[in-house]
Amino acid sequence: MKLDYQKITSKVYADIIAKENHGKVPDYIPELACIDENKFGVNFTDLKHNSFGCGDSEEKFSIQSISKVFALSFVYEKLEEKLWERVDVEPSGSAFNSLIQLEADNGIPRNPFINAGALVICDILLEICNNPKEELLSFIRNLTEDEEIFFNEKVASSEMQNSFRNAAMCNFMKSFGNIKNKPDSVIELYCHLCSIEMTCKQLSKSFLYLANEGKKPSGGMQILSSSKAKRINAILLTCGFYDESGEFSFLVGLPGKSGVGGGIIAIYPQHYCITVWSPKLNEKGNSYRGMKFLEEFTTLTGESIF
Ligand code: DON
Repeated sequence: MKLDYQKITSKVYADIIAKENHGKVPDYIPELACIDENKFGVNFTDLKHNSFGCGDSEEKFSIQSISKVFALSFVYEKLEEKLWERVDVEPSGSAFNSLIQLEADNGIPRNPFINAGALVICDILLEICNNPKEELLSFIRNLTEDEEIFFNEKVASSEMQNSFRNAAMCNFMKSFGNIKNKPDSVIELYCHLCSIEMTCKQLSKSFLYLANEGKKPSGGMQILSSSKAKRINAILLTCGFYDESGEFSFLVGLPGKSGVGGGIIAIYPQHYCITVWSPKLNEKGNSYRGMKFLEEFTTLTGESIF
């Protein structure tokens, strides 16, 4: 039977909004703490160009760690498999900003989605690009087919002023030789990357290449080889939610990525991308309503990669 995704999305949205909203907006980046915690948006976009949303789906928010997926895709296409000499592909089982495994692992981050891994990716961007910020923005604008995507300078500088853990990680990895540039330059790029603002609708469209064997569905431009797209989906499934990746895989069953801005993207390969935004986070730093929404959505569709 053909599923009516629009009906399912609206039903789940109505169910979740009727329930109490738990969790907490993060306050370690002061600029992010100002957000209205009851914002709630969802967008569903598939490879046949069907797209629809509910609630605040066309309002921009801070995508934070979701941008790590764009940065990884950009770098992977350029560096090929040599990339994995500097960052591993193992779930860390610890918090996104944890430092504890780095010493035992000789400064090699467990995966590209924990902060340590994303800092190494930013270091590589500084090595391979003339203007990493602009090149990354144009990479995302091309995926989204929308020029209206920018950094939020206030959020970036708010985070830079409070980047003590990330600075510690970056300096520590430099002591192992796994950061080549000045730690300050790496942090500056990392905080800008996290400050990018997009809507749920833009995010769903931009990530369709991961549902489509590495190709943009409109125009067919190959962003990544199909093997690399498959591998990124594998890392999303095992590492996209830090120490809640197992839970997301268990309850939702799709590759996905969260950010502390309250966004979550989830990909159903060969079919669609769905994005949820709700700023209150659970104790693992993932959107409370985002997790609940996707759990119910995949329960009703019966669709997962398993
Ligand atoms: O490094 C940080 O603290 C943030 N700017 C990004 C972290 C993030 O989004 C973690 N995700 N759930």
